[in-house]
Amino acid sequence: MRVIAISNQKGGVGKTTTTVNLAAALEKNCNRVLLVDFDPQANATLHLGIQPNSLESSVNEAMLGRRTFSAIIQPISEKLHIAPAHPRLAQGAQAISAMPESHTQLSYRLDDVKGNYDYILIDCPPSVYALSENAIAAADDVIVPVNADYLSLEGLGRFRADIDAMRQAKKTHAKLLGVLITVVDQRKGITAQSIDLIRQHFKKLVFKTEIRINVKLEEAPSFGQHIFDYDPSSIGATCYNQLAKEVIRLCQKAN
Ligand SMILES: Nc1ncnc2c1ncn2[C@@H]1O[C@H](COP(=O)(O)OP(=O)(O)OP(=O)(O)O)[C@@H](O)[C@H]1O
Ligand SMILES: [Mg+2]
Repeated sequence: MRVIAISNQKGGVGKTTTTVNLAAALEKNCNRVLLVDFDPQANATLHLGIQPNSLESSVNEAMLGRRTFSAIIQPISEKLHIAPAHPRLAQGAQAISAMPESHTQLSYRLDDVKGNYDYILIDCPPSVYALSENAIAAADDVIVPVNADYLSLEGLGRFRADIDAMRQAKKTHAKLLGVLITVVDQRKGITAQSIDLIRQHFKKLVFKTEIRINVKLEEAPSFGQHIFDYDPSSIGATCYNQLAKEVIRLCQKAN
């Protein structure tokens, strides 16, 4: 069982798109997968067709100890389940920060369901400190999606240092599983230059798979579907299936 946080403090880099479609691709490869929507924007929840406002209970109630994790989980399909988010998780995050050993709360509460899954993927918010810290503390691995541009590279170095600092402070044992280059537009010269820079800096830590720009990936959320239901023959589906195979290989190697 592996817990993987998909995290980057920069917004709009493809964290949610990656969490949802990697979760679905891992399921297609015969794994039991739980997606934890750990972002008050509830984008992954919406992406999979659940209206956050219709929820009686969500990750927020599980984090505050009012429900168990198993009580809030909903099935998307047989082997793909979601712990959905509600916008009140933003207030919940403040309550979590006031708890003793606040960074351990998610890890501790997930123990309830860990035995039921092969992979637990956590969709992190951009820069909500208590939540991201909890996600990384709970994780075995971190995947960091980045866009192929110069500013993304700047933030990436800092983010990696933050994870290292948490490891040194014994707040997590998580490793950087890989940097994932997303929204790759092969028609743009600047994209190729930025990808070269990212690969030079992070070397083997960059996934071989790159996620190409694909309008189907952008359309799928408004239909409440992951890419394998929305358009399994799209480039987006091919990229995320290739990523799943790479993730499975890396996780097997590390065991
Ligand atoms: N490969 C892709 N091709 C085309 N559009 C994409 C691709 N990946 C992501 N997008 C689009 O880019 C936007 C941002 O993606 P996403 O919501 O996954 O980023 P995020 O990092 O989760 O954002 P936030 O920080 O707000 O949580 C969305 O509109 C999404 O549909
Ligand atoms: Mg998101």
